Amino acid sequence: MKQFLFITDLDYTLVGDDQAMAKLNERLKVHRQTHHTKIVYSTGRSLYLYQKLTDEKTLLEPDVLICAVGTEIYYGGSNTPDSKWSDKLSEGWDKGLVVQISEVFPKLKLQPESEQRPFKVSYFLEEKTSGDFLSELESRLLEQGLDIQVIYSLGSSAHINSLSGVYEQGKDLEIPVLDILPRKANKGMAMTFVRENLEIDVAQTVACGDSGNDISLFADRKEKGIIVGNAKQELLEWHKTHPNENRYLAKANFATGIEEGLEYFGFL
Ligand code: GLC
Ligand code: MG
Repeated sequence: MKQFLFITDLDYTLVGDDQAMAKLNERLKVHRQTHHTKIVYSTGRSLYLYQKLTDEKTLLEPDVLICAVGTEIYYGGSNTPDSKWSDKLSEGWDKGLVVQISEVFPKLKLQPESEQRPFKVSYFLEEKTSGDFLSELESRLLEQGLDIQVIYSLGSSAHINSLSGVYEQGKDLEIPVLDILPRKANKGMAMTFVRENLEIDVAQTVACGDSGNDISLFADRKEKGIIVGNAKQELLEWHKTHPNENRYLAKANFATGIEEGLEYFGFL
């Protein structure tokens, strides 16, 4: 057993089955103590909603916290994001213009204020959508010279129900959402940035996820990837059409699926 870099999404990946998470946390905690393994959370949530989650669930303190779909990186409990990363994302990004252009699409409903971040504009969609709509929106933004990307995810957003008033709590876990980010940032690019800072080899790095905003953690990657058994349709479909031997689709759900994958790759 040796040190590895463990990067995981939270909602419906690490978090979803409390007992399973407690068991995995114990193993990871020991691994961190004995082998200096690094624990990184990469969530779509803002820091505000991440802190809410820590009030509700017993999470390990991560070595690095990546929030807002890869656009903010926090080290060791700090409340100030890494400015080197933010500076990089500023080029070619104009949040006001992104909002102005997107407003024209009636299908898009802005998410609550806490989830609108300096480098992330997020919407709810009225219903599941097609690739055509996403490309149309993306083209409109690109035409204006904006260096952006559009990320579509289903579910994993039940936590914003209570803030939004758009959807009732617990009514529908499959909530289609859309994030517009600078092209230079997503969970995958933030993973590379953090991995290089920590000086950990790709072969000793593993990322876990369950939905659309996790695809960049798995796309054309030499790092290992674990998709939990309960993954959402948009990620499973993408996985089928983009095979990669470094990626493992677990049979089990949530933290048990992560544990299965970590054992499969020999990290645990
Ligand atoms: C989280 C965020 C939300 C985002 C979603 C998908 O739920 O709170 O703003 O749209 O992740 O990335
Ligand atoms: Mg998730």
